[in-house]
Amino acid sequence: MSKRKKRLLGFLIFLALIQFIRPSKVDIPPAENRIDFITAADVPDDIAPVIKKSCYDCHSNQPTYPWYFGITPVNWFLNNHIKGGLKKLNFSEWSTLTVKERNHKLEEVCEVLVDHEMPIKSYTWLHEGTRVEDAMVKRICGWIDQSGS
Ligand code: HEC
Repeated sequence: MSKRKKRLLGFLIFLALIQFIRPSKVDIPPAENRIDFITAADVPDDIAPVIKKSCYDCHSNQPTYPWYFGITPVNWFLNNHIKGGLKKLNFSEWSTLTVKERNHKLEEVCEVLVDHEMPIKSYTWLHEGTRVEDAMVKRICGWIDQSGS
């Protein structure tokens, strides 16, 4: 067997073996509508579904896990995105923030949208229709400007 083939075989065996390591899903409390961003901040009907679709997988207590969560080490990356996202912003616990914190988070939301920093690129590649287009970014930032106090 050539060196290259041996290396490839080794890698495949490695991949097969690490499938026995199954990280569990991030421990997340159940979502409560009452304190959720969409309800609590009275998000307009045209904006709410965009935020829900493009942001809630990493910034809420209602992430939907894709089938490839079953593959190690992909699940490890996904868990890190969810953990990292939740640490910065959890739309499901919006009401628990102070008014000042909320206004600051809203400013950040507009910023990351304008810069197309969010959703994370690898996420928009894998999830069709989650990239927030410029017209919608404008609409969301306009609403944020208006609703900030
Ligand atoms: C695939 C997961 C994922 C999705 C989807 C996602 N985010 Fe994030 N988000 C993250 C992670 C991870 C971080 C933390 C990044 C860091 O610490 O550098 C983050 C950080 C942020 C921050 C804080 C930025 C900062 O400078 O601290 C904001 C605001 C944010 N996201 C908003 C959004 C919005 C709005 C959406 C939807 C349009 C969104 N995110 C979609 C994973 C995600």
